[in-house]
Amino acid sequence: MKKIITYGTFDLIHSGHIHILRRAKEMGDYLIVGLSTDEFNMKKSKEAYYNYDDRKLIMEAIRYVDMVIPEKTWDQKITDVKKHDIDTFVMGDDWRGEFDFLHEYCDVVYLPRTRGISSTRIKNNMIHLRDDLY
Ligand code: CTP
Repeated sequence: MKKIITYGTFDLIHSGHIHILRRAKEMGDYLIVGLSTDEFNMKKSKEAYYNYDDRKLIMEAIRYVDMVIPEKTWDQKITDVKKHDIDTFVMGDDWRGEFDFLHEYCDVVYLPRTRGISSTRIKNNMIHLRDDLY
């Protein structure tokens, strides 16, 4: 069985998330998502709208996702890859080059991001929508 892993915050799920999860799953048989915890997001200066438990609930309902594990630190990737016997590590190409050190343990693939959508953009657009109402 070919196992794939990817990481991210996956807040306010959008089509870019679904595209990368689908493409990641198509690369193998079993997809694990390392989902950033709220504490780890704070360290990354990122604040999600949904808390970890809600984001996990949503991720687990996505048909391409087989397992969700917490992403708590930058350094856990080698341990995760070994522990879960991962064949391929996948990230969006906004991260190109950042995780090449994993080549020693598995394939590393950067997939093109979907253009024009992000959780940040959704949040910004919602603020403008609210401003328009008043
Ligand atoms: N991703 C993608 N296409 C997008 C947005 C995200 O392929 N339009 C990918 C990222 O490259 C990453 C994964 O989805 O591999 C999770 O990204 P995440 O940071 O959770 O999503 P963003 O929408 O980019 O969130 P933010 O705006 O908070 O950075």
